[in-house]
Amino acid sequence: VAIRGPVNHTKTPVLGAFANFHIIDADFAYHVPEEIVSSHAAVLMCAGASTYEALDAAGVKPHHRVGIVGFGGLGHMALLFAKAMGCSVTVFCRSEDKMKDAFVLEADGYQILGDNVIPNNDSDPPVDVLLVCSNETPDLENVLPFLSRRATIVLMTIQQKPLTVPYMSFILPGHKIIASTEASRANHLAMMRFAARHKISPWVEEFPMTEDGLSVAFARLGSGKMRFRGVLKVPEAGI
Ligand SMILES: NC(=O)c1ccc[n+]([C@@H]2O[C@H](COP(=O)([O-])OP(=O)(O)OC[C@H]3O[C@@H](n4cnc5c(N)ncnc54)[C@H](OP(=O)(O)O)[C@@H]3O)[C@@H](O)[C@H]2O)c1
Repeated sequence: VAIRGPVNHTKTPVLGAFANFHIIDADFAYHVPEEIVSSHAAVLMCAGASTYEALDAAGVKPHHRVGIVGFGGLGHMALLFAKAMGCSVTVFCRSEDKMKDAFVLEADGYQILGDNVIPNNDSDPPVDVLLVCSNETPDLENVLPFLSRRATIVLMTIQQKPLTVPYMSFILPGHKIIASTEASRANHLAMMRFAARHKISPWVEEFPMTEDGLSVAFARLGSGKMRFRGVLKVPEAGI
């Protein structure tokens, strides 16, 4: 619920993300285009905005090959946006588990990442922009061989550990590392318009926001099988 003017929070208790509704000053609300259903808007306004911002921060162009490390909530949105921007995309994962899903979302390549895995120069075009969307930063020794000269690595992982950068294999090709967190308001709004125009549909699994629904959703999340975002729906709201 968005209203004009300051909101008196002493009269509108804030119940967090599990509340049925939330009252805010309209100046801090985002317009959701009519074409976008609520369950998709929920994903776009976090994973969508973050990855759109990261692609913009890296100055991605349609002729770029984009690489994505960490094919989860953020990673699958990065794939959808990069494809809609005209880029080709390689997904980097630790196993083959998500290969089929990556190709369903029209990835151009799927690469297992691990110790001593090196690119096949005939089948693996080098990556110009690498978005790190994993829960932990990968070992860069394993990643750098897949990059083109002067590639941009965009760090998005939220973690406490320091980053270790291999030295010569990083500086000789002239790579750069940038970081991206949280979309600007302008990019957030641009992302919503872009998603509506290109009919970008996040891959969601829906659960009722009830005690049972939450148990099932968290068990699914814990199993690592959630594709790719779980959305809780308020049953009585019908949205
Ligand atoms: N920068 C931002 O603006 C921003 C915004 C939101 C969230 N984040 C952060 O982004 C990260 C991803 O969030 P998410 O919601 O997309 O999480 P998610 O849905 O759990 O997906 C994370 C993916 O990372 C992969 N992964 C985990 N550990 C890995 C490792 N050691 N090496 C390579 N891949 C690994 C997992 O792959 P498997 O399938 O192999 O397990 C999983 O697919 C989190 O750290 C989150 O806090 C950043």
